[in-house]
Amino acid sequence: MKTFHITTFGCQMNEHDSEIMAGMLMEKGYAPADSRDSADIVIFNTCSIRENADKRFFGTLGTLKKRKMAEREAFTVCVCGCMMQQQHIIDTLKAKFPWVDVVFGTHNLHELPKLLDNLYTEKKKQLEVWPDGGEIVEGLPAERLFKHKSFVNIMYGCNNFCSYCIVPYTRGRERSRKPEDIVAEVKRLVADGVKEVTLLGQNVNSYKGCGEKGQADFTDLIYMLADIEGLERIRFMTSHPKDLSDKLIEAFKNCDKLCKYIHLPVQSGSTKVLKEMNRKYSREHYLELVKKIKTAVPEITISTDIIVGFPGETEEEFEDTLKLAEEVGYDSAFTFLYSIREGTPAARREDQVPEETKHERFNRLVDLINSTSAQKNAEYVGRVEKVLVDGASRSKDSVYEGRTDGFKLVNFLGPEGLEGKIVSVKITDSNTFSLSGEMVRE
Ligand code: SAH
Ligand code: SF4
Ligand code: F3S
Repeated sequence: MKTFHITTFGCQMNEHDSEIMAGMLMEKGYAPADSRDSADIVIFNTCSIRENADKRFFGTLGTLKKRKMAEREAFTVCVCGCMMQQQHIIDTLKAKFPWVDVVFGTHNLHELPKLLDNLYTEKKKQLEVWPDGGEIVEGLPAERLFKHKSFVNIMYGCNNFCSYCIVPYTRGRERSRKPEDIVAEVKRLVADGVKEVTLLGQNVNSYKGCGEKGQADFTDLIYMLADIEGLERIRFMTSHPKDLSDKLIEAFKNCDKLCKYIHLPVQSGSTKVLKEMNRKYSREHYLELVKKIKTAVPEITISTDIIVGFPGETEEEFEDTLKLAEEVGYDSAFTFLYSIREGTPAARREDQVPEETKHERFNRLVDLINSTSAQKNAEYVGRVEKVLVDGASRSKDSVYEGRTDGFKLVNFLGPEGLEGKIVSVKITDSNTFSLSGEMVRE
């Protein structure tokens, strides 16, 4: 039987899509290969969020040409994911990479086994990209990366059209899964050893599930899942500040299984920039939300996404971002240089910020974020934290790594066989990106 290898670019949605593709292929009898070089079928699951994501993909794809030319039909190259949902990318592929065998998009991922069958029986290249998502396809298998934790899609697509962002064009309109389908999936996962689920959506706060017992919003869904025996932790990604409800903030207090961690992308600390980004909240509204969250759950950890150098961003507006970051005191933050995305409103603006200015601001922001992270992490020294153990750390033998309830990365020494268990760890040291400690034997 043929072997396959998937290279995944981009966010958790893509990571999970790759797990589903692997699940479907294994169900059909294909076997995972150890490396891209040894695989009979190579699949690239692409991301288009920033320009360097596009560039990296084309660069890596180019390296396969020689092998394809030498091995011809014995070697299959497939490309899919967010980039494929854009016509200019398809045009580039056709012109520069005509040797690619199979092309499909985000909406017809479930067709991969069929497209491969067609390729092998018809001996003809397969290109099928759907412009929009059809009915949600339920019941697809997934080959999870971890035995003890899993991603669970609760919705697809995005309706927000932030003016810089490509996602609404690559993932289509918002569609929510039925609550009972999600509950059934999580029950199956728990029966298979899963202790932690991460609920995925571009904006989970606008989840609207039409269930047998009527409508369920995001918080209703969390409570339904919390009732599942054996499930220990619930996380979610991502939460848009404009739709974050008081009901969800209450759930952080009332629901033990809901991890005390929130990723709340702010993007900018300037109300004017936020308006131009089409984010639909102000600096004041965001800060008010953070205050409410911290009042409800003082120990909560907060992370964010920030874009530096959005078109027209002035020095003062950037300083507003710095001040906001300082005021919130983020545990961590993903910082991005604004990147022009063809087809989005912000790409058409003529007041793009010069590259050097962007880089200079970016460095100042990263310095601030890192020093806050280090400070926040230092507060953990001396505390005992529950850690879900992911496995041995890549760097050292018998050093485990895992995550606290608040999503802090922890390294610690321990006996064999802790993977997938929740253990108590006394934190003894910290740095900018992680904590370290000693296991507490109970
Ligand atoms: N749905 C999520 C974000 C998904 S994209 C949300 O709204 O929070 C992840 C992050 O990429 C965004 O939060 C944003 O900070 C960043 N991003 C998106 N488009 C970008 C662009 N054109 N340039 C730079 N960063 C971008
Ligand atoms: Fe992009 Fe905005 Fe949708 Fe997030 S909410 S995916 S940033 S358009
Ligand atoms: Fe990238 Fe698509 Fe995710 S553009 S960030 S892989 S939704």
